[in-house]
Amino acid sequence: MITPVRRDWNPSELFSALTPAMFSAEPSAIRARWDKLWPDLYTEYDARHLKQELAARNLIATDEAAAFLSAWVIDEERHTNGFIRIIELVANGSEKHLRERLGARSHDFGPITDYLKDEFSLLVMIAFDEMCTCRAYAAEKPFYDALGNNTFHHWLREIIADEAVHSMNAVNVIRARYRDRIGQVGAILDSLIRACDNLRYSGTFVLDYFGTAYSKELLANSRLATMRNIVKPLPA
Ligand SMILES: [Fe+2]
Ligand SMILES: [Fe+2]
Repeated sequence: MITPVRRDWNPSELFSALTPAMFSAEPSAIRARWDKLWPDLYTEYDARHLKQELAARNLIATDEAAAFLSAWVIDEERHTNGFIRIIELVANGSEKHLRERLGARSHDFGPITDYLKDEFSLLVMIAFDEMCTCRAYAAEKPFYDALGNNTFHHWLREIIADEAVHSMNAVNVIRARYRDRIGQVGAILDSLIRACDNLRYSGTFVLDYFGTAYSKELLANSRLATMRNIVKPLPA
């Protein structure tokens, strides 16, 4: 059985030397930081709800996908914890309040039912979604630069690398278990990208393509990169 690639790092260690006093700013700047970071936080947090939904639907059929999702949900939890810490540091947040707000949100998987038909369509969606997330975070470098502390560069590098690994891990399950269905991947991604135009994010973790980073170009490039990774020849 193929096993997922794991990365080992810890946001609470990463941010341990930083304090909110180091990042004080005007109320309008604090507000702008909050408005940017809050959606990043709740989309990461929503991984747990997607995982629960998959269990409720009994969607996971292979050991490889189960291993991938177990590793993945731990990473997204780590990203959640990191964003909570960042909002405490730079946007006047408190963990208790943030966790209450996160817990009060609703989740509707109805809009993405088409991609929860079976494990294969789920994996295609996740491979693409993680590729988009990876690239969207890469586009956020100027925001973190403006905070003026190198630790945020480190943070961004770590989460970008994690999201890239998530996409590759999903791709590797597809390549290992669904070789006979690889011809269907292009059509699934096309339909996903078309659906994005009319989808309102409803707490599903995937397809959270709002915000300026998620341009048509980013989606098209992520589709290409995902396809390339899925169809690349196996090593001889
Ligand atoms: Fe993440
Ligand atoms: Fe991810």
